[in-house]
Amino acid sequence: MSELPAVRPLAICPSVLTADFGHLADAVAAAEEAGADRLHLDVMDGHFVPNITFGPVVVASLRRVSRLPFDVHLMIEDAEAYVDAFQEAGADRLFVHIEATEHLHRLVQRIRSAGASPAVALNPATPIIDLEEIVPVVDSVLVMSVNPGFGGQSFIETTPRKIFRTRRLLDRWNPSCSLAVDGGIEVETAGRAVEAGADTLVAGSSVFNEQGSPAENIERLRAAATEARTPDG
Ligand code: DX5
Ligand code: ZN
Repeated sequence: MSELPAVRPLAICPSVLTADFGHLADAVAAAEEAGADRLHLDVMDGHFVPNITFGPVVVASLRRVSRLPFDVHLMIEDAEAYVDAFQEAGADRLFVHIEATEHLHRLVQRIRSAGASPAVALNPATPIIDLEEIVPVVDSVLVMSVNPGFGGQSFIETTPRKIFRTRRLLDRWNPSCSLAVDGGIEVETAGRAVEAGADTLVAGSSVFNEQGSPAENIERLRAAATEARTPDG
């Protein structure tokens, strides 16, 4: 049995988007107890995406009840104006959308100098060539496998090919950069995403649902992802 070198650690990152917002702290605690590696927090403004979620106040409240690293996924216009607020609220990493700013390089520098880890996200229709100049200065790239805005959507079938090509680009320009995939990740798609080169899996509805506890659901995702890293079983 030969194993592919697992260069980057695998990270399972639950998104609380489909959890009960009346009991967010409980959902975060359940994810943390269940062995989540990082927490994924989806911030939406009703402009960049057609949905509204929460802002820095909620991130700060959750920060007080969790020790997990916080990845804040900013699906907002004018992210520049909110970098400090989210960093002060406890964000460890800020994902900003390539499509949402004119001055991506400046925004990435601002995030780094504020003391957070800069990362960029790509919508499904955004070509990976748009990453080439920014990749050397970010810590993570997130490939959206659904159109951002809502949990519970289906994985876009062309995503593994995009992940594969993105990993090749990262290996060339920033080999230590992590590669995340977000949207429609469940057992089957987790395996395909990892096989294609993703190391970080964001999962909302496949973690927080009626079918299983977050612990059972995270365990299933981790098993599928680990199996996908071991080609001959
Ligand atoms: C979608 C968000 C995702 C979402 C994933 O806009 O960025 O993080 O919560 O939810 P699922 O896993 O249900 O597709
Ligand atoms: Zn997200």
